[in-house]
Amino acid sequence: LHSADGRLQVKLSAARGRVRVAGRDADVFSYNGSLPGPTLFLRPGDRLNVALENRLTGPTNLHVHGLHVSPEGNGDNPLVAVDPGTSFDYEYRLPAHHPPGVYWYHPHRHGSVADQIFGGLYGAIIVRDPQPIPVSRERVLVISDISLTGDGSIAAVSAMEKMMGREGNLILVNGQPNPALAARPGDRERWRIINACTARYLKLRLDGQSLQLLGLDSGRYQEPRNVEEVLLAPGNRADLLVTAAKGAAALRTLPADRGSMGFMMGGSNGGGPSLPGPDGTVLATFTVNGAPTATLGPVPAQPAPRDLRAVPVTAHRELVFAMGMGMGGGTGSGMMSFSINGRPFDPARVDTTVPAGAVEEWTLRNTSPMDHPMHLHVWPMQIIDQAGQPVETPIWQDVVNIPARSSVRVRIAFDDFTGKTVYHCHILDHEDSGMMGLIEAR
Ligand code: C2O
Ligand code: CU
Ligand code: CU
Repeated sequence: LHSADGRLQVKLSAARGRVRVAGRDADVFSYNGSLPGPTLFLRPGDRLNVALENRLTGPTNLHVHGLHVSPEGNGDNPLVAVDPGTSFDYEYRLPAHHPPGVYWYHPHRHGSVADQIFGGLYGAIIVRDPQPIPVSRERVLVISDISLTGDGSIAAVSAMEKMMGREGNLILVNGQPNPALAARPGDRERWRIINACTARYLKLRLDGQSLQLLGLDSGRYQEPRNVEEVLLAPGNRADLLVTAAKGAAALRTLPADRGSMGFMMGGSNGGGPSLPGPDGTVLATFTVNGAPTATLGPVPAQPAPRDLRAVPVTAHRELVFAMGMGMGGGTGSGMMSFSINGRPFDPARVDTTVPAGAVEEWTLRNTSPMDHPMHLHVWPMQIIDQAGQPVETPIWQDVVNIPARSSVRVRIAFDDFTGKTVYHCHILDHEDSGMMGLIEAR
């Protein structure tokens, strides 16, 4: 669905019902009966109106992940509850300077985010480039995972999966396992890839083809970077150029080690998510043949992002991500508690207050034996250093992985908007169990 004359008006109906998945009828959640929901194409400066209809049996709401829009009122407000049988009209106004890129939408009702996304509620948002990049074809690849029972309904989550973050036994690309993608030799394709998995990290490879990364999340490199592999934590996106070479290639995800609870469970590997074999899992098959295509013009250089390393910082803060046994406070995960700075999420408590317009430096510290992908709404972050190692070219990102027992420093510019929103772990079982905080800019 494309915006016209500066606006896009869509209706999204969240419901449970029959959808064809992997060649059979599955009984899953979806927006408008399709998996993923419709892709929304916008331009900087546009207004997006979404009428969200809730035909589920529990409350839901909508979040536009990564968009730089107001969190207040009927904007990107994560505290809204849309009850079953009711509708809510969202309005998002993208500033004229909104970065182009790959974004997505999904529910954000605390306590049921993992269940609803795992069950099928997600869709892509593309903010178009003011200056188009010449390509033969654009694809949007929404990668998700789900577990289905024998009769095609969504598998229930176990206590262990809630603690580790659930990983589905089916990985889907645009709602289907292993779709066939075709191109001609010499084609330059642009792949917009979204990791919509609830907890799974994707370590993507497409061996035999040449890959160039334009950017991640809302960030862009000035020149595309040659890469062999792209690591996406849950919630991250990649904007990738694929220059097609004759032959057949498999888009695969390789095993990504995101830590385990082994030491707490008393075993050497207890509690870790099951890893695929070393060759990983095939997500899609890319077949290139036919007559070679004409070469396209060069990719225009992208504007350098504002470099927050060069900006005076007005405050330093530390956020400590922790998991503990039996300390109480956590919900829904048995004995395990999930917290940021020692406290599980409470929608009635503001954890962090920042002055509008401030540039802050945050140290994100992870004291647990598992990685936590930290996500902040509304304002993107620049990674300054990881485990003490400075980052060469920081770009804007909205999901930043904090490796187990390690730390990451980021800088954030609280520009343009005031209001309350959240930061949280994007392993959504952790978020639902309390690993989230409320922030207010004012
Ligand atoms: Cu993708 Cu707070 O979410
Ligand atoms: Cu988000
Ligand atoms: Cu986490």
